Amino acid sequence: MNPAAPPTKTLLEQLEAQRNDARLYTQAAEAAREYVASVRQQRVFPAESALKGLQHFQEPLPQTMTDALDVLQMLHRHGSPATVAQTGGRYFGFVCGGTTPAAMAASWLASVWDQNPALYVLSPVVSTLETVCEGWLKALLGLPDDTVAGYVGGTSMATFCGLAAARHRLLERSGWDVNRQGLIGAPRLRVVLGGDAHGTVYKALALLGFGTDAVERVPADAQGRLDPAQLPPLDERTVLILQAGNVNSGAFDPMIPTCQVAREAGAWVHVDGAFGLWAAASQKTAHLTLGIDMADSWSVDAHKTLNAPYDCGIVLCRHPEALAAALHLEGAYIQRSQHRDGMIFTPDMSRRARAVELWATLKALGSPGVEALVDSLCERARQFAQELGQAGFRVLNEVVFNQVLVACDTPQMTRRTLEGIQGSGQCWCGGSVWDGEPVIRVSVCNWATGPEDVSRAVRAFVDASQAARASL
Ligand SMILES: Cc1ncc(COP(=O)(O)O)c(C=O)c1O
Repeated sequence: MNPAAPPTKTLLEQLEAQRNDARLYTQAAEAAREYVASVRQQRVFPAESALKGLQHFQEPLPQTMTDALDVLQMLHRHGSPATVAQTGGRYFGFVCGGTTPAAMAASWLASVWDQNPALYVLSPVVSTLETVCEGWLKALLGLPDDTVAGYVGGTSMATFCGLAAARHRLLERSGWDVNRQGLIGAPRLRVVLGGDAHGTVYKALALLGFGTDAVERVPADAQGRLDPAQLPPLDERTVLILQAGNVNSGAFDPMIPTCQVAREAGAWVHVDGAFGLWAAASQKTAHLTLGIDMADSWSVDAHKTLNAPYDCGIVLCRHPEALAAALHLEGAYIQRSQHRDGMIFTPDMSRRARAVELWATLKALGSPGVEALVDSLCERARQFAQELGQAGFRVLNEVVFNQVLVACDTPQMTRRTLEGIQGSGQCWCGGSVWDGEPVIRVSVCNWATGPEDVSRAVRAFVDASQAARASL
């Protein structure tokens, strides 16, 4: 253990000494390098012994100071083995991305900068990077020129922002200022969405006071796509919420027929494209998102398909004034500028400089790299489906993007097999229910997944199903 700094030193002296201690940086780099070097061999879900090691964190609030080197050492010793090896190439749970080397390194520098991108005067560099990323995102995703970006924690919050802008704009059209007048007595707005919309959409609707009872659900087809033939009549007080990438099947709502109808009716269209909006960045998958440029707002995660580090969601909106009005904030001490003041497009004021990592990801990959990334995730998903099919599993969805839904002969076998997979340490998949049946969800969302990772994961499926059969 490194001896704690003598108590005679002031806090400033102690922290200054720690900050200038070169060992802190070399040890942090060494711990990170060690982690990365072993993550492919690490169990995908931590072993029981590693989870037990987490007990070391269960201590009363420290009554003494601890040297930064010891803090780091403790985190690496007991924290690193208990991580889920999400970056090791065989993690297929939920829809979790990875991190590119450039973004990973950039985030270290960004943490040293400790910038707050709320206002230009707080951080000219991050304001600039946010503006640059906004332009690059529009180019990659084929969105209209007047679109602006707000950088938030994830798609949950991005959807909240897009729907807040919709609420503000549609009520304003009826002469109602929702910020001032609130919702009681406001003209009624309608919400139309596909029967298989993501739970975060309902959460945003609840938070924004739309309520969820009155939502008009359009039946979805067998893949979870909204059926445009069953759209109810839309009007200028309607918000239509579409989905680019169903969280289970990866299916995309048909954008062109729905957006056209919405446009003619003067409805607002929001697209939840958490992971699927990135399909627009590849020639092979762009057909799935054709027509998204007709929407009014979009939510997308850079921390999913793009493989930017976590905590990087983006709301995109072609009506900057509606988004800014919905998220309006005032204060005598707020110093606005001629440049981008990021907080006008986010619900929060202070926040992390997410755009640094986003910029590093996009700069390092460039548009060919993003396209290759999207293509490789889709290719690996198709490989999964093919090898699982050959091994006797049922693949229940059309594999149009990066998601594969798998089932065994019986629901009980599927559940048991999933338990076996999750306990194997070889790979990790989540479960879901599809068409009333339990399924194993495979989401290929990390650049680190190679063909051999998929084959190894398929072997883990086979082993788990054999063990399940023997146990039943
Ligand atoms: C379609 C869809 N919408 C929203 C979300 C939520 O995104 P986040 O976890 O970034 O809030 C997800 C997460 O997987 C998703 O797949």
